[in-house]
Amino acid sequence: MKPPVLTIDGPSGAGKGTVSRSVAKKLGWHYLDSGSIYRSLAIAVSDKQIDLLDIASIVDIAKAISLEFECGDELVVKLDGVDITDRLPSEATGNVASIIAAYPDVRAVLLQKQKDFQQAPGLVADGRDMGTVVFPEAENKVFLTASAQERASRRYKQLKEKRIDANLAQITKEIEARDRRDQERASAPLKAADDALFIDSSNLSVDQVIEEVMNLIR
Ligand code: DC
Repeated sequence: MKPPVLTIDGPSGAGKGTVSRSVAKKLGWHYLDSGSIYRSLAIAVSDKQIDLLDIASIVDIAKAISLEFECGDELVVKLDGVDITDRLPSEATGNVASIIAAYPDVRAVLLQKQKDFQQAPGLVADGRDMGTVVFPEAENKVFLTASAQERASRRYKQLKEKRIDANLAQITKEIEARDRRDQERASAPLKAADDALFIDSSNLSVDQVIEEVMNLIR
């Protein structure tokens, strides 16, 4: 018997990270932030100044990189032994991640790295295709969304708290462009699994969303 998986998919800024981390902690389960895998690859690709149209080189880098995730109170990510945690949240990294995530060959290389997170006693997996592609057999699936405006304003606050320079109008535009790219790509597009519980968090507090997800597990 494989350990149980709860998948939480949805668009950028829907609150998946906060909800997933909290639910994983309550359950004592592992946590996979799959976006950080795409973001880490984006950083590796940007640092090597690879053209974003050069798919073959991006695939080679995806195969070669070593990623370590240390899950304490905060997630610490090391790329080839170097702590890149502070570089992960920026919008620039998210945009490059979204572009390279559209390449099927890149996704294929990163698939096993994500599956490896399915460890006892269980896993909460957060992303775009957790319930549809990576863990289609998961017994509990959630699709968490919110309006683009609400998500942009949350992302703006998050970035400000981290003292990262941000502009709300620009973030709204980027979130809409990222939604389009993630939804319209041919390979593993962002969409709710047929058997997912759909939650619109636009008018819900984080605690209310966590409660709904915990009710699903119970
Ligand atoms: O969740 P995030 O904002 O950290 O993700 C950054 C980008 O990575 C997102 O725009 C698309 C890509 N991504 C993906 O394609 N599949 C996932 N499971 C997670 C992220």
